[in-house]
Amino acid sequence: MSTTAVVQLDNLSKTIKGKKLIHNVNLDLYGGEVFGFLGPNGAGKTTTIRMMVGLMKPTSGSVKINGVDLQEQFETAVSQVGAIVENPELYKHLSGYQNLIHYSRMHKGITKKRLQEVIDQVGLTNRIHDKVKSYSLGMRQRLGLGQALLHSPKFLILDEPTNGLDPAGIREFRTYLRQIAQEDNVCILVSSHLLSEIELMCDRVGIIQKGTLIDIKQVHGDDQQVEWKFVLDQPAQAMQLLSTNIKEEVRATTDGVSVTISQEQVPAVNKLLVEAGFNIYSIESTRETLEDEFLKVTRGEQVG
Ligand SMILES: Nc1ncnc2c1ncn2[C@@H]1O[C@H](COP(=O)(O)OP(=O)(O)O)[C@@H](O)[C@H]1O
Ligand SMILES: [Mg+2]
Repeated sequence: MSTTAVVQLDNLSKTIKGKKLIHNVNLDLYGGEVFGFLGPNGAGKTTTIRMMVGLMKPTSGSVKINGVDLQEQFETAVSQVGAIVENPELYKHLSGYQNLIHYSRMHKGITKKRLQEVIDQVGLTNRIHDKVKSYSLGMRQRLGLGQALLHSPKFLILDEPTNGLDPAGIREFRTYLRQIAQEDNVCILVSSHLLSEIELMCDRVGIIQKGTLIDIKQVHGDDQQVEWKFVLDQPAQAMQLLSTNIKEEVRATTDGVSVTISQEQVPAVNKLLVEAGFNIYSIESTRETLEDEFLKVTRGEQVG
């Protein structure tokens, strides 16, 4: 992930007919990351996205793409943005290739080579000359993705892209998104009202509710190191055993020990303790799942 932000939202706000729809959103997004924009229907995701692509003027605040202000230098800023806002518009009676040719005419300088690159990148090499009406939903989404990538944007926005895809389809889609983000250092923003989708696809998540960005969270994989608490007899002795046998951080608590390890390391630490004769009463991680967090910040309101 690069260190300078590809996208900077600075106090972005929108009021329509006296109603404040978006409240002072501050957000930096980076190249190489897949960022999830999560919030219930009507939270303000599409409205924020419309301002990011220049389809709607902010009431106050600014959007910068690669350091260029979208209001001040619209053409330059927007040339770095690719977007699918809601469903991709595709001509179903034409082939995938013909669709891409059609969209390539909207930008200057898209070569045949670039076209082929994009086709390969979205995994449509073998089917690109077939009519779109013969495509599965996942293939159509990927063609839409290819269309948004043609002009090599540094910032790609996908508004509810997995609508209707099953979990396997979402996982497949994620693989393509990750590759694009990493290979071309593209910053990808994916919006959804479904936590499960965002959790599958993204590295970081911003939670939006009633027009306010209320929290930003890292999505933890199983290899992430978090604090695990082992409740056991003789905490002081257990602490001593672990500190001499593992390199990770160990802390004694009143009823056990806390170790900062990944989930994969839990069985080995457990074995060490059991074999040394300690009685273990429970093992739990102190991390909150994204779901706990999401429910807490949205105060248990219905999602979706
Ligand atoms: N052009 C508009 N005029 C008035 N209200 C709007 C307009 N566009 C969106 N809204 C309202 O703004 C809120 C956020 O909508 P939207 O951004 O579409 O939410 P999301 O994409 O998160 O479902 C909703 O209450 C919606 O009714
Ligand atoms: Mg929306």
